[in-house]
Amino acid sequence: MSIKDRITPPRIRKMKTRKEKIVSLTAHNFPVASLLDEAGIDIVLVGDSLAMVALGYESTLPVTMEEMLHHTKIVARAVRRALVVADMPYESYHIGREQTLTNAFRFIKEGGAGAVKIEGGKKRAETIQALIAAEIPVMGHIGLTPQSLNMFGGYKIQGKTVSAACDLMDDALAVEAAGAFSIVLEGIPHQVASMITEKLSIPTIGIGAGAGCDGQILVTDDIFGTFKPFAPKFVRRYGDVYGMMNQGCKSYIKDVREGNFPSSDESYSMDPEVWETLKKNLKEQYGTG
Ligand code: KIV
Repeated sequence: MSIKDRITPPRIRKMKTRKEKIVSLTAHNFPVASLLDEAGIDIVLVGDSLAMVALGYESTLPVTMEEMLHHTKIVARAVRRALVVADMPYESYHIGREQTLTNAFRFIKEGGAGAVKIEGGKKRAETIQALIAAEIPVMGHIGLTPQSLNMFGGYKIQGKTVSAACDLMDDALAVEAAGAFSIVLEGIPHQVASMITEKLSIPTIGIGAGAGCDGQILVTDDIFGTFKPFAPKFVRRYGDVYGMMNQGCKSYIKDVREGNFPSSDESYSMDPEVWETLKKNLKEQYGTG
């Protein structure tokens, strides 16, 4: 597929002008990434939610650059049309400009991503500017940013007071002014998300931020129930993959234990004449058969 058929950051921006809703989901592996792409998802995010839904960490904080890069490469190999956005993990853009650029370049050059996402508002404005100056498109992310877990003291909805909502608006404006092509609004009241969406010229992509955003993003494992422990209030379930696999696994165990798998149809067979000769040989050579 040539670049003109691919979804690019400028195309995502245009979708807001055309009032086309932007649809985004996360992917971490090849089959899921190809499926989302073929289904027509606009943005495939290699989210750092990878840490919790695929790698067994308790939060997104421990996931490393190498782990994120590994999964970005896999997703980029699968996706033909959608924009692949790589989530920069905690610590990969916090130490200094040089470290941030080095890591972001790796996502583009080695990972094959078309853009990176970083969390934070005003405090990230300079970082976003530096990335844009290096030709790296940036998606912002404000509100309940999971990498701020320790600062927030838990996964708490943000922007619920007048001053907190105004802070979020300032954050969104700073991310836009710094040059981001879009911004994720996570875990904030729908009124605040709509207010920000109306004010910004770049698209807002909501997660737990109501229907007024220019687009929506969810974690694929949450909507298909592949990850059992937890699904937040804003998740709509479109399947129960965990339940289906759990049932299938129990049936497989039962079939094997009871000798019902494999059947003769599920086994390979030898030509009967060859089998007869083999039996004769086995008897002569080993006394068996
Ligand atoms: O890590 C993630 O999956 C995200 C979301 C916006 C879904 O950042």
